[in-house]
Amino acid sequence: MAMKLSTRKRPERSDKMIKEHQLKFSERAFDDNTIKTLKYLMNNEIFSSLDYPIQHGKEAAVYRGTANHDGREEFVAVKIFKLEGPSFQKKLQYLEGDKRFDRPRGKRHMVKIFAKKEFANLKICHEAGVRVPRPIKHRDNVVVMEFLGENGVPSGLLKNAQMDSPKKILGQVLENMQRMHRAKIVHVDLSEFNVIMHKGMPYIIDVGQAVLLHHPQSEEFLRRDLLNVLKFFEKNGAKMDFEEALKYINS
Ligand SMILES: Nc1ncnc2c1ncn2[C@@H]1O[C@H](COP(=O)(O)OP(=O)(O)OP(=O)(O)O)[C@@H](O)[C@H]1O
Ligand SMILES: [Mg+2]
Repeated sequence: MAMKLSTRKRPERSDKMIKEHQLKFSERAFDDNTIKTLKYLMNNEIFSSLDYPIQHGKEAAVYRGTANHDGREEFVAVKIFKLEGPSFQKKLQYLEGDKRFDRPRGKRHMVKIFAKKEFANLKICHEAGVRVPRPIKHRDNVVVMEFLGENGVPSGLLKNAQMDSPKKILGQVLENMQRMHRAKIVHVDLSEFNVIMHKGMPYIIDVGQAVLLHHPQSEEFLRRDLLNVLKFFEKNGAKMDFEEALKYINS
């Protein structure tokens, strides 16, 4: 059910198609600015169609997109940050002392900053060898990244995974956390809901709120992330001592 959205030749028709698309899939249509951003990305050949929503949440909608590279079709994940979501104040705390970003001037600006932050954080993680979707492009409130899926079907969350060896997967999650720590970044919202099992391995996603190590609460956030991870694995048959795991991540 892929829909061509490229505006290059027939802008009126593609406008209409985007509008039909949004009415079909979303109770609240994308706002005009988001449509402009999506068109920009399509005109720049970052993707040529938005296929279907993988997930429509409070804060973001993630779509599968299709890109054509040298005649080859490739899928991408297109994360569109929404204006709704947690309060301004709650989000503000994740920007404290972070010199990479401007101070938000309002709600819309804040959303854009978080998209930019997700892209920047994905880059740090990817370059540090953490398993995350490869970042492709950011513009305004949209982040385009590698699609984690097989044969066009998105891979599922750790929460729903059937694990043959939970101990091995836990080891891999901790290894990713160690790499993040060495790259001086803490996820802040890590749990089985923000890990995708892709080709048998855990990939960390949703790094928009992740903070750098110099954030005043980074240690508290890291402990909370680790607690979530260990609790999930304990329920699934792999137990590990908290302090031992923390020592490993910090090493
Ligand atoms: N790169 C990707 N490839 C495939 N699926 C993805 C990718 N990124 C995200 N998803 C899917 O989209 C869902 C939402 O993504 P993410 O966790 O980044 O958004 P979110 O900020 O939690 O959104 P909300 O709070 O609105 O639910 C994920 O749970 C996952 O199912
Ligand atoms: Mg999430």
